Amino acid sequence: MKQRKKIAVIGSINMDLTARTERLPAGGETVPATELLYAPGGKGANQAVAAARLGGDVTMFGCVGEDAFAEKLVENLRQNGVDTTHIRSVPGVSSGIAMITVAEASGENSIVVVPGANRFVTPAYVDDLQDAILQADILLLQNEIPPETVAAVMDLGHRAGKTVLYNPAPAAEMPEGIMEKIQEKIHYLTPNEHEAALLFPHIPALPSLLELYGGKLIVTLGEQGAMAWDSDRGKLLHIPARPAHVVDTTGAGDTFNGAFAYALAEGYAFADALRFANIAAGLSTERPGAQGGMPTKNEVLAAMHAV
Ligand code: RIB
Repeated sequence: MKQRKKIAVIGSINMDLTARTERLPAGGETVPATELLYAPGGKGANQAVAAARLGGDVTMFGCVGEDAFAEKLVENLRQNGVDTTHIRSVPGVSSGIAMITVAEASGENSIVVVPGANRFVTPAYVDDLQDAILQADILLLQNEIPPETVAAVMDLGHRAGKTVLYNPAPAAEMPEGIMEKIQEKIHYLTPNEHEAALLFPHIPALPSLLELYGGKLIVTLGEQGAMAWDSDRGKLLHIPARPAHVVDTTGAGDTFNGAFAYALAEGYAFADALRFANIAAGLSTERPGAQGGMPTKNEVLAAMHAV
């Protein structure tokens, strides 16, 4: 029987406080919300849940605080089948919190993140847990933990010959020397178009950039789907988004990344893994909350056959 590859997510765990409003407020403006939802989120935890809900073997590495949210956040991961053994509880700090506004009409969002315990996902934490991290075959990273930790995991994964998948989101914080590490130490880089523009400010047109990176770079384009260079076939791959009844786009990028990691772990070919991830991301927008719409494998397969 084929051995299922293991996935380690090293990243953030947040409680999302989501206000649904008619539209996103402009600067200085107050708008009324129709409701306020509390639901588990955080880019790391979301990606872990996305992969685990599909059936992946996923371990989460991260920190929660000492507050009423901490146990709920860990329990949520557990209930979704994520191994939480190595999540640390940091005394005297709050868990990560994201304040999210979702516009009812478009499903678009804006997010303010309070990192809290996510700041304690340090290189020392990674060092302590390196044996456990290296049990995994695929390491999945984002930008909601300190940049030096992101860099440390890239180094660790590269030294140990692991597949490293880096989702450089949110856009603002990039680790020191990131471009050199991207060249040498990671296998997949998955920015959205805004993150790509920050990482590659002097780029030519997107297709030329993708060809230059030859399958390492995958750019997600929201309702336009995703683009990458298919090295197996030597051509540009543009996967259009599946038409969706969008309710909430929060966590769509996370679903894409978790599902892509899952598909790699299952041994899918590159283009098939992208198609699978793209459908999963589309499905995730049809229910509220970052994790609320994340699909099971059967849901993704059914939607793929329906296209
Ligand atoms: O990508 C969506 C996530 O970003 C939310 O769950 C929120 O926690 C923020 O971190």
